[in-house]
Amino acid sequence: NQMKDRMERAAKMKDEDKLYKREGILYSSVLSPPETLDKLAELEAREDDLVLVAYPKCGFNWMVAVLRKIVNASTGRNEKPPERPPLVEFLPPDVQEKLSEMPTPRLLGTHLHPDIMPASFFTKKPKILVVFRNPKDTLVSYFHFMNKNPVLPSAEPWDKFFSDFMAGEVAWGSYFDHALAWEKHLDDPNVMIVTYEDLKQNLAEGVKKVSEFFKLPLTDEQVASIAGESTFSAMLENSQKSHGNFGNVFFRKGEVGDWKNHFSDVQSKQMDELFQAKLSGTKLGARLKY
Ligand code: A3P
Repeated sequence: NQMKDRMERAAKMKDEDKLYKREGILYSSVLSPPETLDKLAELEAREDDLVLVAYPKCGFNWMVAVLRKIVNASTGRNEKPPERPPLVEFLPPDVQEKLSEMPTPRLLGTHLHPDIMPASFFTKKPKILVVFRNPKDTLVSYFHFMNKNPVLPSAEPWDKFFSDFMAGEVAWGSYFDHALAWEKHLDDPNVMIVTYEDLKQNLAEGVKKVSEFFKLPLTDEQVASIAGESTFSAMLENSQKSHGNFGNVFFRKGEVGDWKNHFSDVQSKQMDELFQAKLSGTKLGARLKY
């Protein structure tokens, strides 16, 4: 099992070797080595791919599960969930080749910045669902994730991680760069942005919007049942089955506002100022309430 091998390899590495920098952005040495990222440029998107994009910790795994349920309900398929989320930047070069044999519609995902995603995603224009979350809770979630995931270095101490996140010195780069880049795609007809906070507030409405965006129609009963199976508690309960021993790595608290238990007043103010400087006046910024 490739993922297990990689985890074991990472567990033996020194923290300082777990990330490397490429064109100014940090990546996981074990999951996204240079040869994997080089090969990625050749990935041929298809017009009917279902693409999920999220900056780390914005709710990617949540939406993977929701989208898979939508596909199964709408098409009558009953796919077993694959053993890992379909992040294209994790696929070893030989697996990338197998992507071309995958039946339509393929579910593909990535945490990559849009300017670094394979160009064919923007020329073939498959539908792209982007998940965003307010930066304070994203930072908190990232902090805990790094401390639990052997592939990434420990994020301790908190104050150090806080400044790394603010500076974009974390795997996959700066939250703010990602947000600014997606702001430019907000009106692309093949792009839809949903927020973690909106999904928390009304999951059924989110499921309906996502299914309509991908033209995968559902009955009202199907919408309600998918929303019911996709709450944090339902997914946590099922996590041993879906994510094996990594369940508690991907499902932690699942709430809006946990930043209040972590940020000092000064840090909260610093984040507000950076948010203002980067995202004030943007449409996406206006939706990232915290
Ligand atoms: P917390 O660490 O704040 O709990 P990603 O999948 O992008 O790595 O995001 C992980 C975050 O999404 C974690 O946030 C995780 O608990 C949360 N999450 C996962 N499933 C969820 C669900 N069904 N409802 C709400 N939050 C969920």
